[in-house]
Amino acid sequence: MSGKENSQHTYRAAIVTSSDRSFRGEQDDLSGPVIREIAEAEGFQVVSYTLLPDEQSLLEDELRRLCDNHIADLILTTGGTGFSPRDLMPEATLAVAERLVPGINEAIRWNSLRITPRAMLSRAVSGIRAGALIVNLPGSPKAVRESLEFVIGTLRHGLDMLTGR
Ligand code: MTE
Repeated sequence: MSGKENSQHTYRAAIVTSSDRSFRGEQDDLSGPVIREIAEAEGFQVVSYTLLPDEQSLLEDELRRLCDNHIADLILTTGGTGFSPRDLMPEATLAVAERLVPGINEAIRWNSLRITPRAMLSRAVSGIRAGALIVNLPGSPKAVRESLEFVIGTLRHGLDMLTGR
């Protein structure tokens, strides 16, 4: 079943980019715009975009703000899922999540491993807080596209269940 065969409800999506270099203005965030493009093409309304440094407490605060104030139904993050010491998006997500959704990232890694063995290096996780679904995506625009396009239709079905539609 494709996503389009689920509800036609317009869900609200938020984008959170974790990148020290983009935050300092040393490089453009190219991955946030890729998320926006794919989400909008799937019928989501992008209601928030935040660019943050790789700082776990700031990432947690932003995830809590988006969830607890019911600003977005789906929160798509990019960056901070690798091995560098300041890659802390999974830790921020695990700290705020009430329930985990491992299958989303299992599916992303399974699909991405057909493209590159480096997909195994993403530590991305997903979880639910206050009725919102948080999904970590890797950092590069290429990896974001390869990951998000594979799962976004199914995320809609998950949101239908989460919101009781
Ligand atoms: N997934 C896909 N589909 N395509 C990719 O090119 N790159 C991998 C992985 N997942 C990649 C991918 C690499 S090289 C890393 S280090 C991890 O994602 C984590 O990326 P991040 O540190 O930018 O979050």
